[in-house]
Amino acid sequence: MTTKKVVLITGATSGIGEATARAFAEEGYKLIITGRRSERLAALKSSLQEQFGAEVYLASFDVRDKAMCDAALEALPEDFADIDILVNNAGLAAGLEHINEGEVSDWNAMIDTNVKGLLYITRAVSNRMIARGKGGHIINLGSTAGTQVYENGNVYCATKHAVHALSHGMRIDLLRHRIRVTEIRPGMVETEFSVVRFHGDKERADGVYRGLKPLTGDDVAEAIVWAAMQPDHVNISEIVLTPTAQADSYYKFVE
Ligand SMILES: NC(=O)c1ccc[n+]([C@@H]2O[C@H](COP(=O)([O-])OP(=O)(O)OC[C@H]3O[C@@H](n4cnc5c(N)ncnc54)[C@H](OP(=O)(O)O)[C@@H]3O)[C@@H](O)[C@H]2O)c1
Repeated sequence: MTTKKVVLITGATSGIGEATARAFAEEGYKLIITGRRSERLAALKSSLQEQFGAEVYLASFDVRDKAMCDAALEALPEDFADIDILVNNAGLAAGLEHINEGEVSDWNAMIDTNVKGLLYITRAVSNRMIARGKGGHIINLGSTAGTQVYENGNVYCATKHAVHALSHGMRIDLLRHRIRVTEIRPGMVETEFSVVRFHGDKERADGVYRGLKPLTGDDVAEAIVWAAMQPDHVNISEIVLTPTAQADSYYKFVE
């Protein structure tokens, strides 16, 4: 790479986002890592600097707060301000109940993070990409749940259907600005996702992956970096990846 490209990753404190930060750092990209847990960001920054000699800037904020998102982007130092790639990864599932029993606070957390947070960041970063006139790349974390709804998945699946529709909408609206849009749609990935979904119940979370080999954050990160490293005239619209033991949102083979 002649000039190092700048990648902003939301939700880099754990799972897919953290693995993606490592994978981009290994390829020589400059990184803006974000998330709410600042101590984790600081540890990741040191590790990326030590392991890969990466240039890293950290910004700790909550994507649900539009003012915080805008302020964090405004505060970027000059050498990180020209963002080439945005990875909209921050997100969560909260709860797994029938629609009549779901917690409203869980619904709000998912809608505010997975849909509204993604929109806040996308608006701010896409305007920067448009202003500099050199194109760019937005990579959204969708899910197999973005086109299939499973029992009790109701609101989480709805937010990922929204990410699916928004990815298509972004691809259309940003076409004239040469901004590529990729949607990465994983099946089961073992991260902190299920621990968060079950509000810290690690045993229940472990049960989700029992009897099959799930994807890892590294597997998904590899797909993200591959899509990002295609030549400028190539847009990877979607990548759907599942464990070999999972056919789709409904069918899995548990031994
Ligand atoms: N794991 C799966 O099976 C799977 C499958 C398909 C799609 N996905 C999607 O992949 C993405 C990453 O999930 P993961 O599996 O890596 O889960 P994870 O290990 O729980 O990581 C989620 C990341 O999102 C960040 N985040 C959550 N709420 C946030 C907020 N309000 N503001 C800023 N950052 C926030 C977290 O950081 P902080 O808590 O530090 O803020 C964390 O870094 C999500 O969009 C998820 O829906 C996951």
